[in-house]
Parts: sequence; structure tokens; C-alpha cells
Amino acid sequence: MIKPNTTLQQEKKHIAIFASGAGSNAQKIIDYFTSQPALQKERRAKVALIVCNNPKAGVLKIAEKENIPSLLIERNKFYEDGYLSELKNYHIGLIVLAGFMWKVPAELIQSYQNKIINIHPALLPKFGGKNMYGNFVHEAVIKAGEKESGITIHYVDEIYDHGKIIFHAKCRVEEDDTPQSLAEKIHALEHKHYSSIIEKIIT
Ligand code: GRF
Repeated sequence: MIKPNTTLQQEKKHIAIFASGAGSNAQKIIDYFTSQPALQKERRAKVALIVCNNPKAGVLKIAEKENIPSLLIERNKFYEDGYLSELKNYHIGLIVLAGFMWKVPAELIQSYQNKIINIHPALLPKFGGKNMYGNFVHEAVIKAGEKESGITIHYVDEIYDHGKIIFHAKCRVEEDDTPQSLAEKIHALEHKHYSSIIEKIIT
């Protein structure tokens, strides 16, 4: 049987955000692209779909408030077919991970080569990998006595936090920083930079 060619259906400017939690990055990205009506048509992108694996996640409320379709995914199906046909229905051309807690299946990575990006709350290749998320990352950075931390935006491949690095932004780690205070600095960097890097990738 011939496999449908999903790439033909992809539209570069149709973004799907995959998130599992509060969705503050998702909100910033939505705001960024809805507040840019002056952009030329070829540069205008939109968040066409929110994909979430957690029915209690705040990001689902954001989707509802913003009138953006959302897709609550189920583990078995995700690892069987990557929800490819659902993504195709929305002509998704770029997948943006923003606090998405499941590993992306190989099927999806192959269909979206260099079209899946992630944001990590530390300076990769340091402090990445399985179980390195949220406060675990900031705790490890402080414990290691690092003088600086930051964010990494990178392409997603089959290995956790491993794909090609697109962008770094740094902040200082002060002696009295706690995982909580460091998380706040990192969140501010994420909110400042993620949307404009996405725009650069699209255009
Ligand atoms: C961010 O810190 C991101 O780096 C990490 O998960 C967090 C998501 O935060 N991958 P939010 O849900 O966007 O507020």
C-alpha cells in the first residue's frame, strides 16, 4: 500500500504547540502571532492546534480561551501512529514543544524532519536528557556550582535533548539563587525569545 505523502499537506506557517502543563510559553507564542497583523502575508503564522497529553493541563484552558482547537492525545495511539493524520488535517508544518513531557515517537520525527523544535531550561548539552525537566534541571545547575544557566532552543531528534542547537540565551546564577528563583529567570528568557526564534524558522 502506498503511504499518503503527509509532507505535501504541511503548511510551514501552521504551528502545533505540544504542551503538558501550565502553558505560559504557549500563551506567549499565541499572543506573538495574533498581535502581528501588520506582517506581510507570507510571514504571518498562526497557532493552529494545541496538542496535550494531560486533561488537567492549564494549556487546554488557554486553547479554549483563545479559540484554538485542541487535541487531547492518548499514549498508545501516540506511539502507534503519532497522530499524523490529525496533524495533517490542520496542515501542521511546524511542531513546537513547550513543556511537553512525552518523548516524541520516531514516526513523527521522520515525518517532520527538522520541523520539530523544543525549548529546554538550561544550556544544552549540559543538564539535558531523560528526567531532566522542570526543577530537576535548576537543582542540578545550582548543585554543580554553575555561574550561568539559560535556555536552549533546538531541533528534536530521537534522543532526548540532543538535536541541533538553534539558539542559546544566558542568565547568571547568583549564590543565593534557589531552583525557584532560577526558574523565574529562565521562564523570562523563554518568554522573551521563543516566539521570535519560531518566526525566524518559519520565514
Ligand atoms: C518551560 O520551562 C520549558 O523550558 C520546559 O517546560 C516549561 C514549560 O513551562 N520544557 P510552561 O508550561 O510553558 O509555563
